[in-house]
Amino acid sequence: QAQMKQAVGQAAVELIRPQLDSDSIVGVGTGSTANCFIDALAQIKTEFDGAVASSEATAARLKSHGIPVYDLNTVSNLDVYVDGADESDHHLHLIKGGGAALTREKIVAAVAKTFVCIADQSKLVDVLGAFPLPVEVIPMARSHVARELVKLGGDPVYREGCVTDNGNIILDVHNLSIVDPAQLERDINAIVGVVTNGLFAARPADVLLLGTPDGVKTLKP
Ligand code: A5P
Repeated sequence: QAQMKQAVGQAAVELIRPQLDSDSIVGVGTGSTANCFIDALAQIKTEFDGAVASSEATAARLKSHGIPVYDLNTVSNLDVYVDGADESDHHLHLIKGGGAALTREKIVAAVAKTFVCIADQSKLVDVLGAFPLPVEVIPMARSHVARELVKLGGDPVYREGCVTDNGNIILDVHNLSIVDPAQLERDINAIVGVVTNGLFAARPADVLLLGTPDGVKTLKP
């Protein structure tokens, strides 16, 4: 798995490299696969300007490689966002947020023209939901949101000890079989107290680089 993550990280760099110039800012995701991308990106750091990070952890890793990190509000043009996922279906609808960075990830993905997802083959599924769906919640709304999530058919579990970069908490929703990801994404976002949920269906990935034992495969919706 570690080798597959490295291979897709490298493949993502090769994919975006032709479109980079000295003014380019690259959107960078969070997690162990995104870390492989960061390490590969550092090898070509003279070929672009800098990055926007989807978490404090990613910002720290980028800076440790000497890659400048910009505030998203100062960036007018973000061509590409590269990030991992916890699950992807064949439409490239995703579940993200296993690392609790879902809100900033969704914001950067929304701004970027192209979203490149990188994952090993264990992440590709027919139906989303075996991975518990992370929902970021304002702390005082935790019990209310949990009750509403039960009404939607899920079993929310409070992620103990987890405070997001935005100062909120995470509920992981178990036992969902997500046949209509776009509808569920909207329904959960409509619950008062929810900041965002880990479904990326309104803004799916544009391309999935999937690590397999036979090499990196490119999937499009
Ligand atoms: C972070 O919040 C997540 O969305 C990650 O993208 C996801 O958990 C994938 O992480 P790994 O690459 O470590 O599996």
